[in-house]
Parts: sequence; structure tokens; C-alpha cells
Amino acid sequence: MVRAAVEASPELPALVADAAALPVTDACCDLVIAYMSLQDVDDMPSAVREVGRALEPGGHLCMAIVHPLNSAGRFASLDPDAPFVIQGSYLDSHAFVDTVARSGLEMTFSSVHRPLEAYFRAFEDAGLIVEALREVPVGKPSSDDPRHQRWRRLPLFLFVRAAKGSTTLTEAWSLSRNSRRLELPIHGRECGTRLDSRIDGMSILRWRS
Ligand SMILES: C[S@@+](CC[C@H](N)C(=O)[O-])C[C@H]1O[C@@H](n2cnc3c(N)ncnc32)[C@H](O)[C@@H]1O
Repeated sequence: MVRAAVEASPELPALVADAAALPVTDACCDLVIAYMSLQDVDDMPSAVREVGRALEPGGHLCMAIVHPLNSAGRFASLDPDAPFVIQGSYLDSHAFVDTVARSGLEMTFSSVHRPLEAYFRAFEDAGLIVEALREVPVGKPSSDDPRHQRWRRLPLFLFVRAAKGSTTLTEAWSLSRNSRRLELPIHGRECGTRLDSRIDGMSILRWRS
């Protein structure tokens, strides 16, 4: 794939590297795109940490993954109305292998099921603030294939856009401990008012518009 990219745009530099150890300097880029890859990366938290390190403050990560619902369970049948069944635990991560054949070509994907929280905790730890999230079903089916019809009812993909803050929200929170104001870590803008309530250890903030 990288060879094809280099052939298509020889003027652009390309590197092959482990996403969990990017050979780039800190804050060297304003955009990282991780397209359908983070669900296949063994050490996803380190890869996301590397994204946070490589992005300049205000830079963005655009990510698309197979929605974790997909790897948590399966449809009971090919029927378009088939129930979706989760037999094990949605919350526990586990590795799995999927083999797909298309047009006579067989591909094997080694992936990890992780709950949504695993990705969002990784963003939190990397100082990445989610700005937009989309749960995406398959597009209008080009055929009557019932496998496609079923994925019109549930999200097959997850798209996220996140911004790199100048400090993590946790750092900003501790910095503002003696104040009732909180600076949002993007661009150091003050835009939150502390409410002294917590749910499951999470501070509740009321944002000033
Ligand atoms: C499902 S493929 C998607 C490839 C491509 N983005 C696309 O949409 O066709 C997942 C990709 O993640 C890559 N990958 C898995 N673990 C990786 C890691 N630790 N570092 C870098 N790439 C990794 C695999 O080599 C594979 O190319």
C-alpha cells in the first residue's frame, strides 16, 4: 500500500513504521489520519499516545475504525431483522482473527475487540479532545444482500475527529483547583464553569457558550 502511495505521489515522503513508535519529532504535524487501522494495532494506547506527541497543539486526529459493537457479538441469522447477540462480555478486550474472501482473494485481519471506553481513555491520556463522533451504518446497499441490510440498523463504523490540547483536561483541572474557572486546553481558552458534582469519579463541567 505504501509502495502504491509513493508511486502515486513520489514528491511526498513516506515511511513504514510501528504506529506505537513513530519516527517523527514532537509536535511536528497538524493532522494525523488513522483510517481503519487502530482496531488492528496491538498496542492501541501507545499508538494514540504517539499521535498526541506528534500533533502540534490545536492539530487534529481523524480516525475511522470498525465500530466496537461489531466485534462484541454477531447477528443470529442473515435475516435483515435478525437479533444482534452479545454472548460474552462487551467490556472485556480480546484479540480475534477474521478471514474475508472477495473476488477470489482471501484476506486475514488480526484485530482486537475493545470497548469504546478503551479508545476514549487513550484519547484522554494523549491530551486529545473529541470534537465530533459519527456512528456510521453501511451506505445504501447496492444489492439485496441481507448481510448489508442488517448493518443498516446498527453502526458498522465509528468516525472521530479529536483535537490536541495544550494541556490534558486532567492537567487543566488540577491547575484550576483553586479557581471556579477552567481553561479548555485547546488554545488556552477559558470557557468552563466548575460545578461541584461528580458521577463515577468524573467531574461535571458547565461550559460557557
Ligand atoms: C484493515 S487495514 C487498513 C489499511 C488501510 N488504512 C486501508 O484502509 O486500506 C489495517 C492496517 O493497519 C496496519 N497496522 C496494524 N498494526 C500496526 C502497527 N502497530 N503499526 C502500523 N500499522 C499497523 C496493518 O498493516 C494494516 O495495513
